[in-house]
Amino acid sequence: MPEPIIQCENLVKIYKIKDIEVLALQGLELQIDKGELMAIIGNSGSGKSTFLNMIGGLDRPSAGKLIVDGKDLFKLSEQELVAYKRNTVGFVWQNNARNLLPYLTAWQNVQMPMLFDSAKKKKERALELLEMVGLSHRKDHRLDQMSGGEQLRVAIAIALANDPKILLADEPTGAVDAKTGAYILDMLRDINRNTDLTVVIVTHDQMLAKKVNRVVTIRDGKISSERLMKQSYRLADIGSFTEETETQDEFAVLDRAGRLQIPGEILEQMGIRGNKVRLAYEDGKIIIQPPEAE
Ligand SMILES: Nc1ncnc2c1ncn2[C@@H]1O[C@H](COP(=O)(O)OP(=O)(O)OP(=O)(O)O)[C@@H](O)[C@H]1O
Ligand SMILES: [Mg+2]
Repeated sequence: MPEPIIQCENLVKIYKIKDIEVLALQGLELQIDKGELMAIIGNSGSGKSTFLNMIGGLDRPSAGKLIVDGKDLFKLSEQELVAYKRNTVGFVWQNNARNLLPYLTAWQNVQMPMLFDSAKKKKERALELLEMVGLSHRKDHRLDQMSGGEQLRVAIAIALANDPKILLADEPTGAVDAKTGAYILDMLRDINRNTDLTVVIVTHDQMLAKKVNRVVTIRDGKISSERLMKQSYRLADIGSFTEETETQDEFAVLDRAGRLQIPGEILEQMGIRGNKVRLAYEDGKIIIQPPEAE
């Protein structure tokens, strides 16, 4: 039985700058199960980073419900939030300057989040993590002495240092080439399979999105569609997927009130400009037509 680790109901986030309000999340509904490896895609400005920041406890949601690992993020005190950010979630940022301290070596960087362990234990654990991301041979390198892909792997090791339950990665492969991106995803998959780590990746990369079990699309601060890996591909060798392989089935997502979003492109193709359509139920199918249709 899948057990939810992230439960998000009707989540709203409003940013206020002077008198202008930006509705970054507009009633987002999503459940993510323990041990899932899933991706979030969506246009620029659709609310992906905002959502990740809410789960990561970096910013407070405005309304709705957000429960992560049994903790209600609306009710956590500042102190509890600090502990939450340290123990429950690990974050990988797109910008490596935010992930790594430039004047420290990879090995030292990975020890930074481990506050309460002995020096010996920190060193051992950090080395273990660098081995896990295949980088123990670069342990004494600093940020500027590593490639972008290597920096990213150190960032993942740092994010995992406190053994979080959830790894959140905001466009981790945005700045590396396709091959490195695929390597990083394979690595995250291995870690996800070998531990019970839940992994949520925000990405623009369609190729990467094809290789995970579930991809949700955010549109205007709401989940609009969801793609699920076809059963026959679940255990397949993901290395062999090509751009053309159709590995997933796509579904539109209903909200609690039974509302459905019809993508703008489809409305345009159908020539629907107003806010009314004809809805009919025939032979077990729902048919949506322009208002002028018979
Ligand atoms: N701190 C903030 N203050 C005010 N508005 C913000 C803030 N952060 C995000 N926004 C606004 O909220 C909306 C969603 O932004 P968000 O960063 O979540 O988008 P995104 O999907 O991550 O986009 P991208 O793919 O470009 O990273 C945008 O309209 C953005 O301008
Ligand atoms: Mg973003």
